[in-house]
Amino acid sequence: DIKTGFARTLSGWYEHHKRDLPWRHTRDPYFIWLSEVILQQTRVVQGRPYYERFVAAYPTVQSMADADERDLLRLWQGLGYYSRARNMHRTAHYVANELKGQFPNTYEALLKLPGIGTYTAAAIASFAFNEKVAVLDGNVYRVLARVFGIEDDIITGPAKKTFSRLATELIQQTDDPATYNQAIMEFGAIQCTPVSPDCLICPFQPVCDAYQTGRQRFLPVKSKK
Ligand code: ADE
Repeated sequence: DIKTGFARTLSGWYEHHKRDLPWRHTRDPYFIWLSEVILQQTRVVQGRPYYERFVAAYPTVQSMADADERDLLRLWQGLGYYSRARNMHRTAHYVANELKGQFPNTYEALLKLPGIGTYTAAAIASFAFNEKVAVLDGNVYRVLARVFGIEDDIITGPAKKTFSRLATELIQQTDDPATYNQAIMEFGAIQCTPVSPDCLICPFQPVCDAYQTGRQRFLPVKSKK
């Protein structure tokens, strides 16, 4: 069935299509956290130069914690949502001062940090520590809703549970959860796009429920809050 081949098909696609992005060359949880905070509401092309400037200015979580917040905000200029930068500084203080500069190395422990939610905890746990925990963001919801024909409204609690259970099942198929998570996000970002996905060149075309039933435009179902 499709679930069995999903991870393998995805990884084959990723090997050929992935973008070379700087945060994909590190296992340092600090750099991974930093990249995910920047990318939370920002596109890759816009966020990338910020990531590079932050890494250069603050090469360790301690150096970020020690920074003057005004300098941090100045470097953040143009990204918007300044509360993100302030929260980032707060988390840096916590890790540097309460945890001796060491990010926790499990999903459950990462979740306990101030300012780190399920998405960021899953990203750090998988990318830095190879934990088999699935990331769920807008890209992942879209890919799963389409390929598996899930019609539940993604803003509801039960739907989130459905997606989370499926995502957890799928990530069990791989020995490389870090690459798997990067791959599914990348697939959503550049192949299974919100508008006009190019299904004719998609490796999931023969099995994709949305493609088979012509419902790409209607999935995922997302009502307004
Ligand atoms: N958006 C959020 N996280 C990302 C990542 N790790 N790679 C590419 N785009 C992203």
